[in-house]
Amino acid sequence: MENFDVVVIGAGAAGLFCAAQAGQRGLNVLVVDNGKKVGRKILMSGGGRCNFTNLYIEPSAYLSHNPHFCKSALARYTQWDFIDLVNKYNINWHEKTLGQLFCDESAQQIVDLLTAECEQGNVTIRLRSEVLSIQRQDSDEYHLTLNGMQVCTRNVVIASGGLSMPGLGATPFGYKVAEQFGLSVRPVSAALVPLTLHKPLLDNLQQLSGIAVPVTVDAAQGTRFKESLLFTHRGLSGPAILQISSYWRPGEAVTVNLLPDMDINGFIEAQRNEHPNLSLKNSLARVLPKRLVDQLAELSFVPDVTLKQLNSRQQQQLVNQLTAWQIHPNGTEGYRTAEVTLGGVDTQHLSSQTFEVRDVPGLYFIGEVVDVTGWLGGYNFQWAWSSAWACAQAI
Ligand code: FDA
Repeated sequence: MENFDVVVIGAGAAGLFCAAQAGQRGLNVLVVDNGKKVGRKILMSGGGRCNFTNLYIEPSAYLSHNPHFCKSALARYTQWDFIDLVNKYNINWHEKTLGQLFCDESAQQIVDLLTAECEQGNVTIRLRSEVLSIQRQDSDEYHLTLNGMQVCTRNVVIASGGLSMPGLGATPFGYKVAEQFGLSVRPVSAALVPLTLHKPLLDNLQQLSGIAVPVTVDAAQGTRFKESLLFTHRGLSGPAILQISSYWRPGEAVTVNLLPDMDINGFIEAQRNEHPNLSLKNSLARVLPKRLVDQLAELSFVPDVTLKQLNSRQQQQLVNQLTAWQIHPNGTEGYRTAEVTLGGVDTQHLSSQTFEVRDVPGLYFIGEVVDVTGWLGGYNFQWAWSSAWACAQAI
């Protein structure tokens, strides 16, 4: 049986960062992961450039049954701390939009940073390792059975992530460990995920596959995002939809404003004065993609009239349809394409300062496995860094 001060399960963003910090504090740390390489999601993230944090991190950008839980860790290890670390490694970065920071070159640079930090902390990393069992002894030690080895430790950190992208090694392991130790798990679902549509609406909108438009989109309880919406062959995607998917619940509608920055009545009046015989469709095609206008006409949102024929009732209906289009998704694309998992280990069992389970000394949960889910845009990696750092200081 090998002895370690800490065993971290999961060599993703949170696990590697926690292991490195704990190792650099002088602890003897083992990281185990079921995959062939470390940081697989990091490598895939941000289109291969890793959106590693956001300039505007704030607790309101996180969903959790307890919205206060994330505050302490985010305040103690901030986006500025991680940016300093990225700068220390001479990784060039840029802000893409809305405070989202990406590597100029490659997400591999963030993985290299994490592995270098682990090396500095003399962390041992075992890949292709399954944890078969975790037993807590009377002596407050944990005995872990891995495939091929037995390990004894006083501290176990579960950083095994959520269920999104099973192809990248995602498993329900963390939730099972939580249940084994009597903790509740808040219901999980796919989030930051495209929404799918029923026929016949799908038949219309499928024809717009690949078209993106800047919109606002609202969920039933009032949350709003202003970003772009992308039509796909299965339904709706793009940042606006991925964001709202975390708030959307089955059976509800999302409300789309296709012209959020425009006074449509003013536009129509001006067009009518200048081109009274122009068709309404051609007029709208000046501010929306023509193929979208054609499909809106198919859906009877755009009457087949000229501007001078458009009466005030039709105009009012048109404005309502364009600014408050109620779309009823029939579901999401699920974990196969979701960036994150909503829900997870119930924060009521964890210390928000240390991430230790209150009634089980030496057991910690960090990162995405916990019921804290960020918006799109670097918020989830910042949660991984902040929760990992806070945990590592406490072990
Ligand atoms: P993470 O999932 O990273 O790591 C968990 C690790 O545990 C994995 O290596 C897994 O193999 C391992 N594991 C699981 N079960 C195990 C078991 N039973 N035994 C051993 N090991 C096990 N976020 C962001 O802020 N900016 C971005 O640009 C993106 N982009 C992005 C793209 C894509 C395609 C995805 C899927 C996700 C993102 N995200 C993102 C989200 C981000 O990747 C995610 O929130 C973090 O990786 C979560 O970090 P964790 O370390 O908690 O889990």
